[in-house]
Amino acid sequence: MARARVLLLFAALLLCRYVTYAAAETERTLAMIKPDGVSGNYMDKIKERVLESGFKIRGEMLVQLDEGNATLFYAELSSKSFFPTLVKYMTSGPVFVMVLEKANAIADWRALIGPTDAKKAKITHPESIRALCGTDITLNCVHGSDSHKSASREIAFFFGTMFSTGHVFSPHDELRVIKKHDEL
Ligand SMILES: *[C@@H]1O[C@H](CO)[C@@H](O)[C@H](O)[C@H]1NC(C)=O
Repeated sequence: MARARVLLLFAALLLCRYVTYAAAETERTLAMIKPDGVSGNYMDKIKERVLESGFKIRGEMLVQLDEGNATLFYAELSSKSFFPTLVKYMTSGPVFVMVLEKANAIADWRALIGPTDAKKAKITHPESIRALCGTDITLNCVHGSDSHKSASREIAFFFGTMFSTGHVFSPHDELRVIKKHDEL
């Protein structure tokens, strides 16, 4: 009897540990379908890949960036020679941004999108999203936060504080149109 009780306690402890571990690993990352992905009609296909890879989409919106937005978003690249080209590309049409959630979301989304250079991705990572819809190192179709720090900054950039207080944006809504979402 005592032995069974000890075993039960042990099992309960293991379960607690597992639950704590799983909860601690849950992350959010910012995923973006860039103008070439949106205009090329890859949104549905990419969202399918997102969901079948186990991500939950916690927020989403279609947004047209202006020059100021793009310059701010890519501020750390502002000294690069390709910066003007990048800003022009990122403002050439709407982008579709999503907050993705799952364990290890940041690294897993980066793995799913593949190498930065879509031309290389087509050869080395044919199953990646960039191989599917990217063209080269500039027109690479999708973005993913590269660290916890970037993920927090980028989610806040698009979704502000409203995201963390229980609101979610819907596709095709403008910035100011917000839908309440019970899941959050
Ligand atoms: C983009 O900039 C405009 C001002 O030009 C601002 O109203 C808007 O909130 C910005 N959008 C984002 C996503 O930061």
